[in-house]
Amino acid sequence: MDKQTERLERHQVDQAAEILRRGGLLAFATETVYGLGADACNGTAVAGVYAAKGRPAFNPLIIHLPDLAAAERFGVFSPLARKLAEAFWPGPLSLVVPVREGAGLSSLVTAGLDTVAIRVPAHDGARALLSAFGGPVAAPSANPSGGISPTRMSHVLDGLDGKIDGVLEGGDCDVGLESTIVLAGEDVALLRAGGVTVEDLEAVLGQAVARPEDPDTPKSPGQLASHYAPDAKVRINARERRADEVLIGFGAVAGADLNLSEAGDLAEAAANLFDMLRQADGLARQQGRSIAVSPVPMTGLGLAINDRLTRAAAERR
Ligand code: TXA
Ligand code: MG
Repeated sequence: MDKQTERLERHQVDQAAEILRRGGLLAFATETVYGLGADACNGTAVAGVYAAKGRPAFNPLIIHLPDLAAAERFGVFSPLARKLAEAFWPGPLSLVVPVREGAGLSSLVTAGLDTVAIRVPAHDGARALLSAFGGPVAAPSANPSGGISPTRMSHVLDGLDGKIDGVLEGGDCDVGLESTIVLAGEDVALLRAGGVTVEDLEAVLGQAVARPEDPDTPKSPGQLASHYAPDAKVRINARERRADEVLIGFGAVAGADLNLSEAGDLAEAAANLFDMLRQADGLARQQGRSIAVSPVPMTGLGLAINDRLTRAAAERR
C-alpha cells in the first residue's frame, strides 16, 4: 500500500530526523545526488530501502556520518584512508574500509561484507540532518534501482512518491554525480569514478590509484553494466545527430536539443547530466526518438560522466 510522502522544507530538520528515528524512509539532498536514508542500525528500516528501490540485496549501501571522528566508530581507518578523509571530507568521496567490530550496523547495510562504505557529505542540509539524527544513515541514491539518479526533489518524487515516508528539500545538487568510491587500506583502488577526480586523489596521496579495469582491482558489487538508464536507447560518442535522435551536446555542438555545457566545462556538465538525461528521455518518448550524446573528454570529472553514460547506453537485461 502507498504511504503518504511528507514534503519537508529545508528548515524542518528535526521532523526529518524523527522520521529516521522511528525507522522510516527519508530522502534528503546531498551535494552529489539525493539519497534515500534509513537508520543504518535498524534492519527493518534498511530492508525498507531495498524494497522501495527494488534494489538487489547483494548490493551494499553507503553510510553517512557528520565527521571523521564519527566515521571511525564504524570503520577502521588505515593511515592512507585517514589522509583521504582529512583531505576530502566533507565532500563527494566514499571510503570503503574494514567494518569495526561491534559497530552495530545492520548486516543488510554491508550485504554481509566485512567492509563498509562511509561518506561525510558537504551539503548543509545533509550535515544538519546527520547531526540532528546522531547516528549512521544508510543511503543509496533516491531512485528506483537501475534508473537515473535524482539531482532535484522533483526527481525523487517522480520515482518514489508513495513508497517513502518523507523528503527533505535541499535544492538542486551542485555536483550532480555520485561520490567517488575508493577501497582504502594499504593501497587505494578506485571502485567508482565520481565527484572527486582521480587526479585530485593522486595529488593528495602522492601515489597512483588502481583503476577498476586493472585485473587486480576488486570489483564493487553494485557496478552493474546497465544502470542510470532512461527508457529510450542511448548512443554515446555521437559526432552527429541522426534524424530519429534527441541530441545532448557537449561544447560547441550545432543543432543539439540540450547541451551539458556549451563552454565545455566538465563541472557544469556533471551538474546537468542526470537532469538532461531525464529531459531527453521525455522528448524521446513524446517523439518516438532515441538519445545521442556528444563525446565528453576522459579527463577530470569526464571519467565519471563517461562511466554513467556508458552504463546508460549499455544493453539492458
Ligand atoms: O554520492 C553518493 O555516493 C550517493 C549519496 C546519496 O551519498 N549514494 C550512492 O549510493 O550513490 P548508491 O547505493 O547508489 O551507490 C553505492 C555504491 C554501490 O555501487 C555499492 O555497490 C557500493 O557503493 N558499495 C557500498 N558498500 C560497499 C562495500 N563495502 N564495498 C564495495 N562497494 C560498496
Ligand atoms: Mg545509485
